[in-house]
Amino acid sequence: MILKMISWKLLLGAIFLLPVLLLTTIIGCQKEGSKPLSALESRGKSAYLANCTACHNPDPRLVGSIGPDIAGSSLELITARVLHQSYPPGYKSKRKSSLMPALPFLERDLPALHAYLNSFIKR
Ligand code: HEC
Repeated sequence: MILKMISWKLLLGAIFLLPVLLLTTIIGCQKEGSKPLSALESRGKSAYLANCTACHNPDPRLVGSIGPDIAGSSLELITARVLHQSYPPGYKSKRKSSLMPALPFLERDLPALHAYLNSFIKR
């Protein structure tokens, strides 16, 4: 009798819990960005993962192993950093260090990098 009651409670608990778990999973996945990336954003993502994630977080909204979070960076900032190891005039940088090297071979990928880093803001 007691055992029967416990198993009924377990079953009821499972019935109530399952939709909650499913919902949180679905919402969690949507946060990652349900909107597919455009061709330019995808190209930027590849360039980002290949050239930036040694220091910056694979998720550019988060702080990385060495570099700061850089989602939402302007094209001027990305260009100054990647081509000239500098900052746009008057820009208050997130870090005082100068550990990031210039990566001038990425000149042609700057618009794509910019599109990818700003694709998070719209979502
Ligand atoms: C060798 C490590 C390293 C690599 C590779 C690297 N960065 Fe950085 N990045 C840093 C560090 C560290 C900083 C903080 C300033 C400094 O120390 O130079 C920084 C700062 C920045 C900033 C300025 C953030 C702010 O608002 O102050 C931007 C934008 C940026 N990086 C973009 C990139 C992009 C885009 C790539 C890839 C194309 C990249 N970085 C590759 C280490 C790196």
